[in-house]
Amino acid sequence: MEKEALSILDQRTHSSYEIPVHNGTIRAMDLRQLKTGPGDFGLMTYDPAFMNTASCHSAITFIDGDKGILRYRGYPIEQLAEKCTFLEVAYLLLFGELPTEPQLKDWVGQITRHTMLHETTKKFLEGFRYDAHPMGMLVSTVAALSTVYPEARNVHDPEVRQLQIMRLIGKMPTIAAYTYRHSLGFPYVYPDNDLSYTENFLNMLWRMAEPRYTANPILARALDILFILHADHEQNCSANVMRSVGSSHADPFLSTAGAAAALSGPLHGGANEEVLKMLDEIGSKDKVPAYIEQVKAGHGKLMGFGHRIYKNYDPRASIIKWAADKVFEVTGRNPKLDIALELERIALEDDYFIKRKLYPNVDFYSGIMYQAMGFKPEMFTVLFAIPRTAGWLAQWQEMLEDPEQKIARPRQVYTGHEVRDLVPLEKRAAPTTA
Ligand code: CMC
Repeated sequence: MEKEALSILDQRTHSSYEIPVHNGTIRAMDLRQLKTGPGDFGLMTYDPAFMNTASCHSAITFIDGDKGILRYRGYPIEQLAEKCTFLEVAYLLLFGELPTEPQLKDWVGQITRHTMLHETTKKFLEGFRYDAHPMGMLVSTVAALSTVYPEARNVHDPEVRQLQIMRLIGKMPTIAAYTYRHSLGFPYVYPDNDLSYTENFLNMLWRMAEPRYTANPILARALDILFILHADHEQNCSANVMRSVGSSHADPFLSTAGAAAALSGPLHGGANEEVLKMLDEIGSKDKVPAYIEQVKAGHGKLMGFGHRIYKNYDPRASIIKWAADKVFEVTGRNPKLDIALELERIALEDDYFIKRKLYPNVDFYSGIMYQAMGFKPEMFTVLFAIPRTAGWLAQWQEMLEDPEQKIARPRQVYTGHEVRDLVPLEKRAAPTTA
């Protein structure tokens, strides 16, 4: 077999180099030997927004963006969504294999034991303004858990790590539900350990004065499927933050808070909320063509469209569309669906979107479905953060166990001033503009 290597001729020095290629990748550090002289630092690569840089080896999630393929630990997302529960998938992401029946029973039991919040954390939540955004409350409360479990900073102890993982996955729905109840001024509902993960979440959200709240099984299952679809997505913006913050050996609560903050942005998990705002702004099906023209003219983006990796279609979007139909059978059809379908139809036929390979992503239809289920748009990104916690933790654990990983610290290309002497305050003049 031919040697996998790259031959480089450095025109600056007329020196030749052979750089090994593994898995279609060269090591950036191998370029440092390309120097113009003894004082030269060596060649770097410049890659704003990591367009073509792998920051890690990972065995968790595989995506082929051109073919629209998504797999967790080798299993196609379609099979996982059809046949598994979210907690089974969380186990798969974290431990690498699907659980056996006894393993799953034990895992579900462990997660269920960690659903309660410390009463002081509940009081902490009560301190937020009545109109605080649920994502802001979630990010802050997850960070605050770091103060409740100080042992979590021992990130090199696998048993300690395991306990924090269960705490985070267990408590995320409780925090999410409390943020919702807080924004409505409703009393908090304690977790019910007899219920499944999503049934318990729905119970904490919707239960009022009735002695027992029974979640609609179709809605609980639809939510479970959405949780599976959102559980991981390899090195996306928030996973990268999780790894980056975690690489300083900050505890998992603080790292997760950082990841959730990244998720909240409108270009990432915050897009689902923005889709609903966009559909509201459009108002009706007949206004769709004008809106698309506006986007093409450079005024805003079509929210829920486009993806850094998927350039064909997002396989999660088609499963969501299917799940949305099941939800609408229970809740009635969300009238916004007609506007969304019209947007999709026109955009997919339009040269602007075809040329740029812009397709509906996971956030395009999830919001319509969540709204039909009774969620306010501000809760949509919180609903993304709950399952993604499993993925963040799997990425974090993999990073800590990888002997090649160190504190994440990119290089820069400095473009500022050369050294210059400081002018005393009384002699400084405002810079003149041309
Ligand atoms: N509407 C209109 N034009 C778009 C859109 C869009 N949604 N997305 C990208 N473009 C255009 C963009 O203006 C650029 O055009 P040009 O080449 O003329 O400058 C071209 O398509 C390439 O876009 P890009 O910004 O270089 O692509 P990216 O890979 O950096 O960004 C993205 C990916 C998801 C941030 C972007 O497509 C976007 O902002 N989409 C809307 C927000 C959204 O739906 N985000 C959710 C992503 S999926 C879930 C998640 O990650 O959480």
